Amino acid sequence: MAPASSSSDISPQLAPKRAEYGVQSGHPEARDNALDAGFADTMLQDTASQLTIAIDGYSACGKSTLARRLARQLAYLYIDTGAMYRAVALHALRRNIDPKDSAGVEALLDHTYLQFIAGSVAGQRDMHLNGENVAAAIRTMQVADAVCDVAAMPPVRRYLVAQQREWGREGGVVLDGRDIGTVVFPDAELKFFVTANMSVRVARRMAELKARGQDLSPEKVEANLRMRDHEETTRADSPLRQAEDAVVLDTSSLDVDGVLAAAMVHVEARLAEKQAARRSGKGANEGPDRAGGRQALDGEQG
Ligand code: DC
Repeated sequence: MAPASSSSDISPQLAPKRAEYGVQSGHPEARDNALDAGFADTMLQDTASQLTIAIDGYSACGKSTLARRLARQLAYLYIDTGAMYRAVALHALRRNIDPKDSAGVEALLDHTYLQFIAGSVAGQRDMHLNGENVAAAIRTMQVADAVCDVAAMPPVRRYLVAQQREWGREGGVVLDGRDIGTVVFPDAELKFFVTANMSVRVARRMAELKARGQDLSPEKVEANLRMRDHEETTRADSPLRQAEDAVVLDTSSLDVDGVLAAAMVHVEARLAEKQAARRSGKGANEGPDRAGGRQALDGEQG
């Protein structure tokens, strides 16, 4: 195991007190990434005219692909919130903490330092846990099996949501997850709820697993997706819900370019509205209530 994965190496001063870590919301970095990656059509704007884009939905509907591609196209920051829950689950497993042991996992949070750092793929960021690149390690079946329990724990959610709000504070950000439009940024200017029919989801998940050398029967994959859907929609804290003001994107019969194109229609409309509002002097304070959200959350955390 790489030394950096040992949480005892992290001094108390380095414990993740939110804002100091990860991708700081200094978006020039995100823009540089996009430019390095050669995205000539990247729109460069000041963050005041950029959007906060929330993407929620069930597993295997194409959320992350859409989020990543939108962020790249717009030169926005991309925050894969599922990777953060997975990293906490991985940390628990490595420390031999039962992923159902709420007190044990909560105690680990003070030693869980998360960052998204540019990786080998241009324009893409990898999840780092206590300084170690865990982009591959968080994608194993073992982590997938543990993460549902960890993601249902209120202390874990409070902790990660605080980081997500801090990183996304300045806008110009795309976040994907289960609670982005309902809890993390309920005032996001643009929310998508991504869906797909079950047979398409099964086929996509099987292809993903196959690419990682895992061959599972369609019945097994479907049972797993249904189990996840049930757990994510019925948990007490932040269950997966479609926000009332979300745009539903059914990706069943669209390829990745089609999904991006459908989403971009809404992005362009919102950008135009926001720019028009700014020009007319209205809406200067519109957009996510970032400060308010943060204060409420800090209060909850005591
Ligand atoms: O999107 P994903 O499969 O990488 O997410 C991993 C797990 O984390 C999954 O069980 C759903 C959960 N999750 C969550 O509860 N809230 C989020 N905002 C993102 C993911």
